[in-house]
Amino acid sequence: MKKVGIIGVGEYLPKRILTNADLEKMVHTSDEWITTRTGIKERRLVAKHEATSDLAIKAAKEALADAKVKPQDLDLIIVATITPDMSFPAVACLLQNALGAKNAICFDISAACAGFVYAIAIAQQFIARASAKFALVIGAEVLSSVTDWQDRNTCVLFGDGAGAAVLAEVKSGGILSTYLGSDGSKADLLMLPAGGSRNPTTQQTLDNRLHYIKMQGNELFKLAVTIMAEAAQNALKKAGLECKDIDLVIPHQANIRILMALAKKLGLSPDKVYLNIEKYGNMSSASTATALCEAVKVGRIKKGDIVLLDAFGAGLTWAACVIKW
Ligand code: ACO
Repeated sequence: MKKVGIIGVGEYLPKRILTNADLEKMVHTSDEWITTRTGIKERRLVAKHEATSDLAIKAAKEALADAKVKPQDLDLIIVATITPDMSFPAVACLLQNALGAKNAICFDISAACAGFVYAIAIAQQFIARASAKFALVIGAEVLSSVTDWQDRNTCVLFGDGAGAAVLAEVKSGGILSTYLGSDGSKADLLMLPAGGSRNPTTQQTLDNRLHYIKMQGNELFKLAVTIMAEAAQNALKKAGLECKDIDLVIPHQANIRILMALAKKLGLSPDKVYLNIEKYGNMSSASTATALCEAVKVGRIKKGDIVLLDAFGAGLTWAACVIKW
């Protein structure tokens, strides 16, 4: 099989900043509670005219420029999102049109916070089996559109953003392993109950605020630490590596306490875990994607480094990926 790697990265964060101080004026919370319980100081929110595809396009253009790949050379576009512009068509199709990537096949995937890493694993298969040369993978979310701004349990956590990666065949290094998993028996821990075919929109679903994220944070917290650690260990094993070989972990950014517990479980020093949660909160699929892009931009990832992507989210879904940069 061909070796497949990431040859370019990009990101876009909307300009509007919502700080913890702003949230103190909206719900009964405090900067102290949010900072100590989550590690979040501020998050970005879209402007009124912006939707998920708008963020995705900007991140995609940056990644394509970084990879020096033209849109018409793309064979595949996968967008990982739980907040598409609309149920259909796919955000990936909107992106194809905006970029002029007329030769690409395009689809979205729904794997929540693990979506970006799931999409990387899918794109790798397309390229390794020779049906695609260049693939664009995006994690993009407007979580503010499904956040209940009256619910302090959830509204302090989420933000909007997009990150992108271009994948292609590489001569050396690249993706060494991927490990994906799911557990639908725990679907009720994190969901958006209405607006789909189970509970189509009615005045009653609106009155009951069922179009917003419902989360059992405590349960998820415990599962996240265990499952992310297991996913990391399984991906490392598949790659023939051990935790001590990791140069940098790029994790999903749900909670700084989850990430510090993960580092401890893996026997890694905390500085080997890349964090951007303080600035952006939890952006679901966009969290891992933007963290990867930033780590490359600021020089935290260098050629030859062993990088571990590790994500966990609604579904439940989880995914880890070991890359030799
Ligand atoms: N401000 C002040 N107090 C609050 C707030 C707030 N914003 N939110 C909750 N509280 C209160 C609660 O009401 C509770 O009060 P009580 O004890 O009087 O009932 C108290 O704080 C403690 O609440 P907990 O839920 O136990 O707080 P916890 O320490 O578990 O932190 C959190 C909550 C941050 C949500 C945490 O559980 C978490 O990060 N969970 C994991 C989330 C996750 O991993 N999600 C999956 C990925 S995301 C995705 O897929 C989109």
